[in-house]
Amino acid sequence: MKYMQGSYPIVEKQAIATDTFSFTVRCPEVAALAKPGQFVHILPKGYGLRRPISIAGIDRAKGTLRIVFAIRGKGTEALAQMNPGDDMDMIAPLGHGFTLLPEAQHVALVGGGIGVPPMLPLAKYYGERATAISGFRSFKQIILQEDFDALGAQAICCTEDGSAGAVKGFVTAPLEQLISEGLDAVYACGPMPMLKAVAEVCLRTGTWCEVSLEERMACGVGACLGCACRTKDANGEEQFLHVCKNGPVFKAEEVQW
Ligand SMILES: Cc1cc2nc3c(=O)[nH]c(=O)nc-3n(C[C@H](O)[C@H](O)[C@H](O)COP(=O)(O)OP(=O)(O)OC[C@H]3O[C@@H](n4cnc5c(N)ncnc54)[C@H](O)[C@@H]3O)c2cc1C
Ligand code: FES
Repeated sequence: MKYMQGSYPIVEKQAIATDTFSFTVRCPEVAALAKPGQFVHILPKGYGLRRPISIAGIDRAKGTLRIVFAIRGKGTEALAQMNPGDDMDMIAPLGHGFTLLPEAQHVALVGGGIGVPPMLPLAKYYGERATAISGFRSFKQIILQEDFDALGAQAICCTEDGSAGAVKGFVTAPLEQLISEGLDAVYACGPMPMLKAVAEVCLRTGTWCEVSLEERMACGVGACLGCACRTKDANGEEQFLHVCKNGPVFKAEEVQW
């Protein structure tokens, strides 16, 4: 895993929903290496511990990365205070990204809430071969649907309360529909109950599936044992892996749900 640490200038900042921000950071050497599904580990000013945020956009020509995050606590609140011109202290790119399948004809990108952003680099790769199924609690949390459109992917938006989007309810209903029509792969990121439900559908139907897990992290590079995740190997034997180093992307059948 090749990564670097540096201070990189923020070149763009946008508020895209309540307490949710999109930042673009100029970091050409990181952008040159970054892959869909990897993350950056950011040190908020005045803090000792970094915060992991998924890579939501890679522009190698411009030498930039995009991240999208929601304020959850003091660390992300401090990050949200930053502005274009400020330098972001990052270690990146970290983790194992998603497996890209050049032959796949139709893939589903399933994102829940703030798990939607890491689906964007996959939408860029698959274009019109991708259907992005995004789930939110209500219209207030909806983000990035127009970005999927711009990348050529079909966007299906679901809200639990039915306040917006084509589907009232969970992401699994449109996912099951797509699987019944024929789907080569499913990629998912979001809250654990959603990932578990998506994995259950995929394992039951024999559909190839990778999930990106979230775990609290400290070092981010496999050195502190802070982000252990219970998995099983090919023989079904239990093993603990690091979400930061061995993940955050795992095969659905690897995870001990
Ligand atoms: C690989 C990875 C990628 C991520 N990508 C994104 C992203 O693209 N956008 C985004 O908004 N967030 C993302 N997160 C979550 C983000 O790292 C946390 O929200 C952030 O670290 C919270 O820091 P804080 O100081 O603001 O909050 P804290 O004060 O540290 O915590 C606030 C609340 O969030 C919970 N929390 C903290 N860290 C996590 C975590 N890792 N998983 C679940 N709950 C947590 C705490 O238990 C607490 O309830 C990602 C996490 C991981 C591990
Ligand atoms: S965060 Fe230190 S081992 Fe993963």
